[in-house]
This record gives sequence, structure tokens and C-alpha cells, in this order.
Amino acid sequence: MSDILLEVKDLKVNFYTYAGVVKAVDGVSFSVRKGEFFSIVGETGCGKSVTARAITKLIKPPGRIVGGKVLFEGKNLLKLPEKELKKIRGKEIAYIYQDPSSALDPLYTVGYQIAETVAVHNPLIKIKNAFTKAVEILKEVAIPDPVKRSTNYPHELSGGMKQRVVIGIAMVNKPKLIIADEPTTALDVTIQAQILDLLKELKEKYNTTIMMITHNLGVVAQVSDRVMVMYAGKVVEIAPVEELFEKPLHPYTQGLLAAVPNPLKKVEEIKAIPGFVPDMINVPKGCRFRPRCKFATEKCLQQPSLIEVEKDHWVACWKYWKR
Ligand SMILES: Nc1ncnc2c1ncn2[C@@H]1O[C@H](COP(=O)(O)OP(=O)(O)O)[C@@H](O)[C@H]1O
Ligand SMILES: [Mg+2]
Repeated sequence: MSDILLEVKDLKVNFYTYAGVVKAVDGVSFSVRKGEFFSIVGETGCGKSVTARAITKLIKPPGRIVGGKVLFEGKNLLKLPEKELKKIRGKEIAYIYQDPSSALDPLYTVGYQIAETVAVHNPLIKIKNAFTKAVEILKEVAIPDPVKRSTNYPHELSGGMKQRVVIGIAMVNKPKLIIADEPTTALDVTIQAQILDLLKELKEKYNTTIMMITHNLGVVAQVSDRVMVMYAGKVVEIAPVEELFEKPLHPYTQGLLAAVPNPLKKVEEIKAIPGFVPDMINVPKGCRFRPRCKFATEKCLQQPSLIEVEKDHWVACWKYWKR
């Protein structure tokens, strides 16, 4: 049996804007193994969220998936009709987003909202049982006094509590994969750590696989098994977490880490890598990091593909290609 749960192959997503075509995700490939905590990191705008949404075809115009495959348990999700995808979203693959307030409906109690998620995917369940499940899950996500809390409206809960409810909604149908897009970005630092601990704990308990997106290297270090670094719509490096922090290979990854002696600092605040993330319409020819890279040569006018330099450690940089 394969240990791969999700395999993304040569994924391409374009946005057709008045200013031109934005190649937001341009030939991204990676796999996520069963039971692992896989993180995607990179500066804002590098294509992390678009990659995450494309996995279950949640790309709306002017965006379009223009190439690639997304194999989930071997089945290409990009070929499935919307009806089939609806059964997968929330049941097999659940999403957690940055802002818990917009993920919850202000008009319904949190208990109702969890029960509803249960009922949608289990149409034969009795309402009472769905509510019992809602209370159980509130307990799982460590909300005190879950019976009473289940009758609360979102505005009656703190940001951290709301994110716990959102995690509860994501977990309640025991999905195989949770995609968490900046799940702690909107929260205070102390609450962030608690939410990460909770995700990790639930992952172990239910053997769920987590794919997390963040621009925060501290968050990556705290929970990940493997990390993928993206830059301007491309994958530049994939490695086990300790390996990435100890031996970063790509000049961009090296820059990110060097610029963040304190891993709790946000990638967004990095000033130490000279230059800017390229304009995504007129991307540099070849390696997209070339204009900012102190090692750049003629060769870098061609796009390097990922190579495995050491076991499980992949990098897209000509420096590591032996001639
Ligand atoms: N609705 C949209 N319209 C036009 N361009 C978009 C849209 N959404 C995303 N993009 C483009 O896709 C790129 C990647 O966005 P995104 O995946 O959200 O980045 P991040 O890595 O911060 O999650 C952005 O730089 C932007 O140029
Ligand atoms: Mg994003």
C-alpha cells in the first residue's frame, strides 16, 4: 500500500486579469504522506493559498486551473464533477482558514453549525445525535463547558475559541486530510501556540494528515514533519523540518532563515533579502529568484527543476546540479 495520500503533479493555475495573465501557480509538484504534518511556507503572494484551493477545485474566475493532476488516494480530483467534489470537501478533505469569524455564520449557534456539518455528510443521522456529536467535538477541541458553549453564537466566543470551533467543524467527520491555511495568523501569539498544539494532538489521535500553510517560520518549526518552500508560484525546496532549518540549500530558503534569527518573526517582515518578489505577470526568465540571488549565473536563465540532493531533500537550484 502506498504511503502517499495526496500527490500534486505539475499544477498550474492562472488568473486572467486586465493587466495580463498571472501564473500564480506554475508547475507545482509535491506529495503528502499519510499521517504527516506537511507545511508550505513562503512570502505573501507566492501561491500558497491558490495551491491549497486548487486541490479541491475551489478556484473561481478570473482564476482557472490550466494544468496538472491532483491525485487523492490515487484518484484525480481535477477530473471529478462538482457533485463528487462536494462529497469530498468537508468529509474527506476539510479546510481551516485564517479568520474564524468569517468561517462561522453569525446567525447560528456553534452547536448547530457543527451538527449541520455532521448532517450534510450523514443525511440519515437523527438531529439529536448530530447535536450530541457537536458537544463531543467541542470537548475534543478543549472548549470548557461544551454543553453550554454549544448554545453560544460565534460573537459570544473569543478568537481562539472560535478557531477551536472551526477546527471542530473540520474534524467532526474525521477527514483524511485537513488543509489549514494560515490557521493561527489572526490570533495572539500565546493562543497561536495552543491552536498548533491542538492541531498536532488531534492529528496524532485520529491519524489525520495535515497540510498547513503559513508565512511564519516559527509556526513551521513548531509542528511540521516536512516543509515545502514556495517562491513566486514555484517550489524551490522540500525537506524534513530539522534538515531545512539546519541545512537550507536554496539561496531563497537560506535568505529566509538568515533574515529570521528569531523564528517567531514573520516572513512578511523580512527586509534582509534584497529586491522584491517579482511582479507575477512579467516573471523573470529562468529561475524566478535570479534577480535577487547572489549566486546567479548565466545558467539561471533556464528554469532548474527539483532534484533530490540528499534523501528526501529536494531543491530547484543549478548550484546543486553536477555537470
Ligand atoms: N482573485 C485573484 N485575481 C487575480 N490574481 C489573483 C487572485 N487571487 C490570487 N491571485 C494571484 O495569485 C498569487 C498567489 O496568491 P495566493 O496563493 O493567495 O498567495 P499566498 O502565498 O499569499 O497565499 C498572487 O500573487 C496574486 O497575484
Ligand atoms: Mg494565502
